[in-house]
Amino acid sequence: MPAYVFFRKQFVPLSEAKIGILTHALHYGTACFEGIRGNWDSERESFCIFRIRDHYKRLLEGCRILKMNVPYSVDELCELTGQLLARSGYRENVYIRPLAYKSSEAIGVRLHDLEDDLCIVVTTLPPYLDVENGVRCCTSSWRRVDDTMIPPRGKICGIYVNSALAKTEAWENGFDEAILLTQDGHVSEGSGENIFLVLGGKLVTPPSSDNILVGITRDTVMKLAENELGIATIERQVDRSELYAAEECFFTGTAANIAPILEIDRRPIGAGNIGKITARLQSLFAEVILGRNPKYSDWYYPVSPKPGRT
Ligand SMILES: Cc1ncc(COP(=O)(O)O)c(C=O)c1O
Repeated sequence: MPAYVFFRKQFVPLSEAKIGILTHALHYGTACFEGIRGNWDSERESFCIFRIRDHYKRLLEGCRILKMNVPYSVDELCELTGQLLARSGYRENVYIRPLAYKSSEAIGVRLHDLEDDLCIVVTTLPPYLDVENGVRCCTSSWRRVDDTMIPPRGKICGIYVNSALAKTEAWENGFDEAILLTQDGHVSEGSGENIFLVLGGKLVTPPSSDNILVGITRDTVMKLAENELGIATIERQVDRSELYAAEECFFTGTAANIAPILEIDRRPIGAGNIGKITARLQSLFAEVILGRNPKYSDWYYPVSPKPGRT
C-alpha cells in the first residue's frame, strides 16, 4: 500500500485521505481519472514516468467536459507526481492514478455549483492481461457509450460502468476481455484498451469518431510502427467480421501494455498464436517505456527516489 498520497492540496498518509459518503462523485460518477506508468529502471536506479504530460493534458480535457477547475497546470501536475513518487518508497514498476472529482457533499444531479478536488495515488498493478500468452475475447452484448451520451474521449468515471458491464459479462462467459461495438455495429475498443488489427501487413485501428478513448499507448504504437518498422496505421471504421479475417490483432493500453489477441468469438486470429508484427511492437514498446531511446526523450519524465526511503 502507498505510504503517502496527494489529497486536498497536500501530501498526507493514505490513512488520512478520506472522503464523506455524500461526496457528489461517489453518487453520480462525476469525476475523471488517469492511469500512468512509472517504470523502474534497476540499472539507473530511477523511474521513467511514461508520457506523463500527455496523460495530464487528457485529464485536463476531461475536466473541461465536466466543468471542473483543477488549479494546476500540466507542468505543476507533473512536478507534484514526481515528488509523490520520489517519496513513495517504491523500487519497482508503479501505476499512478490521479483522480479529479466533484468533492462537494451534495445531493442533486448537475455539474454546476460544486467544488472540485484532485488526488493522486501511486501504487503497484498486477498484470492486467496476459501479454506473454495472449488473450481470448468475445464481442460484447453491451454497446460502447456514444459521444452524445457521455463523451468517451474523457476518462470519465461514470463511463466505466459501461466497461465494467462488458468486462464482467466476458469474464463470466469464460473470456479474458470484451470488445465493444458502437451503436451502429462498428468495432470500438476493449473495456479498457484500444484495438489494432493487422490486415494486408498494415495496421488498422478504429478512429476517434467511433467512441474510443484516444489512447496514449495507441499513439505510441502508431509512431513506433511508422518510425521503426515502416508500417503505416490506417484509422478507419472496422466491421466486426474484419476481426475474424485479421492476420493479427492486439490491444493497447497503459494497464494492458500490448496484449496479443489470439481468439475472438471462438475463432482463432491468424494462426492462433502471437503474430510477428505484434511481437516486434511488444519488444520495441518494452524498450521505449524504460526511457532509454533518446529519439523519444519527449516521452520521458525521470524521477529518482528520495534517499533514505525504501
Ligand atoms: C476505455 C479505454 N480505452 C483505451 C485505453 C487505453 O488508453 P491509454 O493507452 O492512454 O492508457 C484505456 C486506458 O486508459 C481505457 O480505459
